[in-house]
Amino acid sequence: MADILRVEGLSFRYPDSPKSAVSDFELSIPEGEIVVLAGPSGCGKSTLLRAVNGLIPHMYGGEYSGDVLVAGSSVKSSNMRDLAQTVGFLFQNPENQIFMFSVERDVAFGLENLGVPREEMRARVDEALRLLRIGDLAQRAPHELSDGQKQRVALAGVLAMRPKLVILDEPTSLLDPKTASELVALVAKLRGELGTTFVVVEHRLDLLVEVADRLVVMDGGRKVLEGTPMDVLFDNEAEAHGVAIPAVAKVQRLLAEREAGKAAAAKLLTPSALALAVEGRLT
Ligand SMILES: Nc1ncnc2c1ncn2[C@@H]1O[C@H](COP(=O)(O)OP(=O)(O)O)[C@@H](O)[C@H]1O
Ligand SMILES: [Mg+2]
Repeated sequence: MADILRVEGLSFRYPDSPKSAVSDFELSIPEGEIVVLAGPSGCGKSTLLRAVNGLIPHMYGGEYSGDVLVAGSSVKSSNMRDLAQTVGFLFQNPENQIFMFSVERDVAFGLENLGVPREEMRARVDEALRLLRIGDLAQRAPHELSDGQKQRVALAGVLAMRPKLVILDEPTSLLDPKTASELVALVAKLRGELGTTFVVVEHRLDLLVEVADRLVVMDGGRKVLEGTPMDVLFDNEAEAHGVAIPAVAKVQRLLAEREAGKAAAAKLLTPSALALAVEGRLT
């Protein structure tokens, strides 16, 4: 399948900054994947995302080299309006993207800006509300909602634009564990129903490893590891780059240290895999 995102030798340095925030970055993402981007604070994750949604170089000055292609078009030579129809972006704090009088109008906001005809707007807003299971909130004022509900409203507004690629920058950071795991389940559902590609910056890897196809680890502006979550998280370097290893993988390591035979052979990442191993079905 065609790559929805290609990052080709991207380097970017903010003005007045002594070093590049992103250096010599290469990445190819086929359509329909769920990709998690991890790495220590300040390693350049948000900067990379800005180079995908076009804020870099369109809104930020700085030294830019290399290229980013979204659905085959170069971000630096696309305009923001066209890009916004291919790339949806969910900010870390949903307060930054909800502001209107009702949930429904909020979700319609991007479509109104594009001048989408009324009928179609209605259909797309209803679909987004349904997908996020917030139809019952349609007439509510966004500022009265919980953080988890606001996050859904903001995501509904993004999805109503029907972007091929959705970027989420630390989407669970304001959410309690239950709402966070609901959001992760929702990402998997949307990928299944709409074929949307997701790039998610996330620290709660224990949640994301259940649904991610690929894990990319950055450090110091560079890509240091890339592969399936299994391959990356069982690479001894991952922890050295500040990646939080899921609890189940740690349990497996302890087992392996104690009993070098059977347990060491099994790679376990998720609670369900651990349960199977305990039942003796995986070793
Ligand atoms: N608007 C900005 N102006 C100047 N420097 C910035 C700006 N945003 C981020 N940086 C710097 O770029 C580097 C990468 O930051 P960022 O992409 O926000 O990392 P992360 O999202 O991984 O925490 C850091 O050194 C940070 O201080
Ligand atoms: Mg960031």
